[in-house]
Amino acid sequence: MSNAYEAAYQRSLNDPEGFWGEIAEDCHWFKKWDRVLDDSNKPLYRWFTGGMINTCYNALDFHVDDRGRGEHLALIYDSPVTNTIRKYTYAELRDIVARFAGVLTNKGVTKGDRVIIYMPMIPEALVAMLACARIGAIHSVVFGGFAAKELATRIDDARPKVMVSASCGIEGQRVIAYKPLLDEAIRLSKHKPESCILYQRPQEHAPLTEDRDSDWEEGMKNADPVDCVPVEATDPLYILYTSGTTGQPKGVVRDNGGHVVALKWTMKAIYDIDEDDVWWAASDVGWVVGHSYIVYAPLFKGCTTVLFEGKPVGTPDAGVFWRVISEHKVKCMFTAPTAYRAIRREDPQADLLHQYDLSNFKILFLAGERSDPATIQWSEKHLNVPVIDHWWQTETGWAIAANCMGLHFFPVKYGSPTKAVPGWNVQVLNAANEEMPPGEIGALSVKLPLPPGALPTLWENDQRYIDAYLKEYPGYYKTADAGMVDEEGYIYVMSRTDDIINVAGHRLSTGAMEEVLSGHPDVAEAAVLGVHDELKGQVPVGFLVLNAGVEKSNDEILKEVVAMVRDQIGPVAAFKKAAVVKRLPKTRSGKILRGTIRSIADQQEVKTPATIDDPAILDEIREVLAEIGLGKTGR
Ligand code: COA
Ligand code: AMP
Repeated sequence: MSNAYEAAYQRSLNDPEGFWGEIAEDCHWFKKWDRVLDDSNKPLYRWFTGGMINTCYNALDFHVDDRGRGEHLALIYDSPVTNTIRKYTYAELRDIVARFAGVLTNKGVTKGDRVIIYMPMIPEALVAMLACARIGAIHSVVFGGFAAKELATRIDDARPKVMVSASCGIEGQRVIAYKPLLDEAIRLSKHKPESCILYQRPQEHAPLTEDRDSDWEEGMKNADPVDCVPVEATDPLYILYTSGTTGQPKGVVRDNGGHVVALKWTMKAIYDIDEDDVWWAASDVGWVVGHSYIVYAPLFKGCTTVLFEGKPVGTPDAGVFWRVISEHKVKCMFTAPTAYRAIRREDPQADLLHQYDLSNFKILFLAGERSDPATIQWSEKHLNVPVIDHWWQTETGWAIAANCMGLHFFPVKYGSPTKAVPGWNVQVLNAANEEMPPGEIGALSVKLPLPPGALPTLWENDQRYIDAYLKEYPGYYKTADAGMVDEEGYIYVMSRTDDIINVAGHRLSTGAMEEVLSGHPDVAEAAVLGVHDELKGQVPVGFLVLNAGVEKSNDEILKEVVAMVRDQIGPVAAFKKAAVVKRLPKTRSGKILRGTIRSIADQQEVKTPATIDDPAILDEIREVLAEIGLGKTGR
């Protein structure tokens, strides 16, 4: 039986140029493309080659100048941590962005230059991103919860001309000074940005570093507004670093043209949002969800986007989500399941919800980690709206699988993010690169080409892109997720096939944490793995083998390594548990049996692997896990 979803899906695979070419007509182009899909440099595909576009024009000016919607609300900033609500129309936001583009221009930033944005969840973060887009500069937003060293790694890779930051972030009740982190990152990095623009918040005044720093407000007073600069559709819009399997993060590149086209289309097709609706993605601008669905897609669509500076609980209570939905008449929201687990833990009967009128609220979307059925069911019961799990990655920029609410609603199957979204030819592959029949588990992969808006490459590193994503399964993009597709086309995402873990919807590399632990002078060997956590989905746990003759106590060393991870990766790693063991369980060929340790910690049935070099070691692992409150003792 055909429906709007089926028709769109089939056309997107059979006639991608016709499908995306038509959708692209809905966007503003300075010059139309020569080719919709350029496959002249396989496996590196490009969309809309020859086209000239500006992302900021599509996000702001288009609505003001071409559509006469300048007075429509673009942005609602709701910050319970500062007791602030500020609203911006499209015209107001355009004018501020144009002026900040002038500030950047005064600092010498031009098309192709990089700008690193290290900011909390304040409107100025969006302004900085859009201002970069306006002048064709490439922004790279770094999440505030990362430590100075991580920021330094990104500075060295992106080599920004300018950094934009703020005096502080606010985490619950705590004010976190950003300037010391910024200074330390620039001290650590080899590349030194020419200047830093600092937005001073009333909660913390940051002293400016002479000859380098300047004040945001001062800059705005002295700048003239700047117009949009047309860029190639294939020019990079931003770089977003994400965890890879090593300490060196991957610089995911997003281009301009395909991104505008695909993201604008998703607002209706996936999220059922029209331009008069209010939309809220409760994430952070430092993550891909923040880029795509706090900033770009809703503004391309011309609807109202909510920027929320707070937490689901504690700012001030577990009713804050309902307050925001009700107060701003939010139609659909998008967050990570962990946020709802946090609310449910504090307010199991959702008593706080009954204080608010949620009659405008229509759909809850969840992504970023596996949605556990209990969380979906709790949300369905209390909100009485569809709860839609959908699956995507930093690399893909938008959903690979979803229940496309603007096309056709399929019955929800718990544990599945429903079906492949139009544009994504999802296949399950075996090790021989063969497509597997329904129901069989294998590597979730996407047949090339990826649709517009997905990553075209990694920053200045086509080879790493090919090696990491395209090489293992020729002709396909490797998602590094394992799973299956059932007879009805529902996709099930089961686990990562690499050492990435998902902590409170944040993607982290256990390999990077192992590198930090191995840097401790008393540690001979370290393994970090993600174990199940009721709230955060997964949390990292470290296992250390110490050098012989170490004088410090185990407790002292454990405290030190916890501090090291916080210091070198950041608080967001949530690395709080570690244990000292005499040896790590390994195969006879020397591979650490991470899966076995994880199963013990997660209290699953553990069969002693036939390849293990010394089965007795598992008993020691059981004991130390029990000591730190994981797994259970005995067999
Ligand atoms: N700047 C500085 N520090 C930050 C930070 C930021 N922007 N964001 C987080 N941190 C710190 C936190 O303060 C915390 O530090 P602590 O160890 O001193 O308490 C640590 O990093 C871990 O943060 P977080 O993962 O947010 O855990 P939490 O315990 O503070 O809150 C949740 C748990 C579930 C409430 C929270 O993770 C959440 O709201 N998640 C929503 C989902 C989400 O945003 N996902 C993003 C992708 S969609
Ligand atoms: P990130 O790049 O931070 O968005 O993380 C992407 C990874 O998160 C994916 O590769 C999955 O492992 C996981 N993920 C995201 N969304 C889902 C989902 N809906 N179901 C299961 N896993 C998910």
